[in-house]
Amino acid sequence: MTDTLTITDNRTGKQYEVPIQDGAIRATDLRKIKTSGDDFGLMTYDPAYQNTAACRSRITYIDGDKGVLLYRGYPIEQLAEQSTFLETAYLILFGELPGAAALESWVREITVHTMLHENVKKLMEGFQYDAHPMGIMLSIVGALSTIYPEAKRVQDDEIRQRQIRRLIAKVPSIAAYAYRHNTGRPYIYPDNSLSFTGNFLNMLFKMTEVQYRPHPILERALDVLFILHADHEQNCSTSVMRGIGSSQADPYSSLAGAAAALYGPLHGGANEAVLRMLKEIGSIAHVPEFIKRVKGGDGRLMGFGHRVYKSYDPRARIIKQTADQVFGVTGRNPLLDIALELERIALEDDYFVTRKLYPNVDFYSGLIYQAMGFPNEMFPVLFAIPRTAGWLAQWEEMLLDPDQKIARPRQIYTGAAPRDYVPREKRQQP
Ligand code: ACO
Repeated sequence: MTDTLTITDNRTGKQYEVPIQDGAIRATDLRKIKTSGDDFGLMTYDPAYQNTAACRSRITYIDGDKGVLLYRGYPIEQLAEQSTFLETAYLILFGELPGAAALESWVREITVHTMLHENVKKLMEGFQYDAHPMGIMLSIVGALSTIYPEAKRVQDDEIRQRQIRRLIAKVPSIAAYAYRHNTGRPYIYPDNSLSFTGNFLNMLFKMTEVQYRPHPILERALDVLFILHADHEQNCSTSVMRGIGSSQADPYSSLAGAAAALYGPLHGGANEAVLRMLKEIGSIAHVPEFIKRVKGGDGRLMGFGHRVYKSYDPRARIIKQTADQVFGVTGRNPLLDIALELERIALEDDYFVTRKLYPNVDFYSGLIYQAMGFPNEMFPVLFAIPRTAGWLAQWEEMLLDPDQKIARPRQIYTGAAPRDYVPREKRQQP
C-alpha cells in the first residue's frame, strides 16, 4: 500500500488523496485541487526552495542535524584521510571508487587536458591588472564554450565526457592565470609530472627555478581541501548549474553561471568575507563587542550558519585539523586566535545556540589559504576548482534524468490588474 496524504479543501469540502513517495508529495499533484474547472489549481509557495526537492540524486548525502556528509555513500572523513582529489572526483562523477587501472587512465586523461588554448592569454590581457580573479575565472570558463563549440551537443556521451575532463583539468590553469595576471607575473604552463594540486601550486608560484617542487604537506593539505569542497548536493551554485544546464546550454556556459553564484558572500565568497571580518575585529579583546553587534542585527558572523547543517559542519572539523598541519609549515596565522575566540564565545552564546549556528566550511579555510600565501580574492576561486567536479556530476545526472525538463518555476503574481496605456501627457507621475 502506498502512503498517501489526505487533503480536505475547506473551500469546496472536497477530499483529495495525494501519494507520498520518498517522504515527498509531487507538487504537480496539488494542481488537481481546484475550486472550479477554470481554476489553475493549487501551487506551493517556497521562496529559496527551503522545502522543495527539485531532483532525485545519487551523488551526495547530507544529514544536517547529525553533521553527516557522504559522497556516493562514503563518509567525507574517510575520503579526506585516504583519498585524493582526483580519485574523489572520479567517485563523484561515476559513482564508484576507481580500480588501479581506471584511476591511472583517469589521472592521465585529466593531466593531458591541463593546457589552455593560447587565445586565453589574449582574453586575459583584456582584464584590468586588479580584476577580481573570480570575475576573470568565470568569464574565461564561459569563453571556452567558443573554443569548444562541440560542447553544445550535450546529449552526446562521448562529447560530454571530453568536456568534463577538459573542465576539471583547465579550471585550475585558468585560476592560476588569473592569479599571475593580478600579480603581473608570466603565465606558467602546466607541469604534467606533478600531481593535480602540485601542478596547480606550480602554475601559481613558480618563479625562475627549473622545476617547481611543491611542499608535500601543503600539496596534501590543498588536496584535502579540494576533497572537502568537491560537492555539496543542491546548494545555490549547483542549482544554477542544473538550472542553466536544463536549457541544454553547453557545460562551459552552465559552469560560468554556477561559478557566478558561488562568488556571492553568502556562498563561496564567505571565506573571503571571514578574513575581512577577522581583520576588522583586529584582536581578541574586540571579539565580545563584535558578537554583541551581530546579535543586535548589525552584520553576520561570517563562516557561521548553514541552510542544511544545524550542527557542526563536518568539513569545518577536518579543516581545523588541516590548519594545524599547514601552520606547522607556514607558521601560525595570527588571525587564528581571533577565530578560535569567536568560535568559543559563539558556541556558548544563546543567540547562536538557539539558532543552531555553527562554524561552516568557510570559517577556517580562508586562514589556511592565507597562510599558504593566497590573497583573499583567490579564496572563492579555490572553492570553484574542486566544486567543478560536483557541478559536472550534478549537471550530467540532470541531463540523464528522464524526470527533468527545462527549469521553470511558477510565481504568485502580485502586480497591477489589467489597465489601459496612459499617453505620456496624461500621466499623473512627475
Ligand atoms: N550570523 C548571525 N546570525 C545569523 C547567521 C550568522 N552567520 N546566520 C544566520 N543567522 C540568524 C539569522 O539572522 C536568523 O535569525 P532570526 O531568526 O532572528 O531572524 C536565523 O539565524 C536564521 O537565519 P537565515 O538567514 O534564515 O538562515 P538561512 O538558512 O537562510 O541562511 C546562511 C544560511 C546564508 C548560510 C546564513 O547562515 C549566513 O548568512 N551565514 C553567513 C555567511 C556564510 O558563512 N555563508 C557560507 C555558507 S557555507 C557555503 O555556502 C559554502
